[in-house]
Amino acid sequence: MSQLIRALLIATFFAIAHAQTSTPTPVDPAWTTVTNTSDLAIQQVAQFAVRIYALSTGKLKLGFVGVVSGQTQPFNAGYNYQLVITVSDGPAPRNYRNYSAAVWGILGTMSWKLWSFTPV
Ligand SMILES: *[C@@H]1O[C@H](CO)[C@@H](O)[C@H](O)[C@H]1NC(C)=O
Ligand SMILES: *[C@@H]1O[C@H](CO)[C@@H](O)[C@H](O)[C@H]1NC(C)=O
Repeated sequence: MSQLIRALLIATFFAIAHAQTSTPTPVDPAWTTVTNTSDLAIQQVAQFAVRIYALSTGKLKLGFVGVVSGQTQPFNAGYNYQLVITVSDGPAPRNYRNYSAAVWGILGTMSWKLWSFTPV
């Protein structure tokens, strides 16, 4: 990966992380629990979150394992996703860890953002 793309990803990630702490959401529509965590869209949102976090932090060995649970909320023409994701730390012997990821995006578009990604 080029240094420029990596720098942009890092800048985007931190800009987003900062924006989240300084901009409270004015309206708060209901959250809906994800009934099927194997759903392809949910799996792809979770994989996006792991990839962006890995790229923006340089922790390139982190790997997506699975989705533990999730909730969605209509937001800005798309959805907010609050997912608990199991992540591996690299090749065997692997350690698994659960992370809580907050993602916003519009399915079928390039409009996706990782709001936060923190261990639980
Ligand atoms: C959950 O989604 C997966 C992937 O689409 C599907 O194979 C599975 O049958 C679904 N499970 C239920 C209970 O709907
Ligand atoms: C992740 O969370 C699930 C559900 O709480 C739990 O069963 C699993 O052991 C957790 N995995 C890790 C690596 O903590």
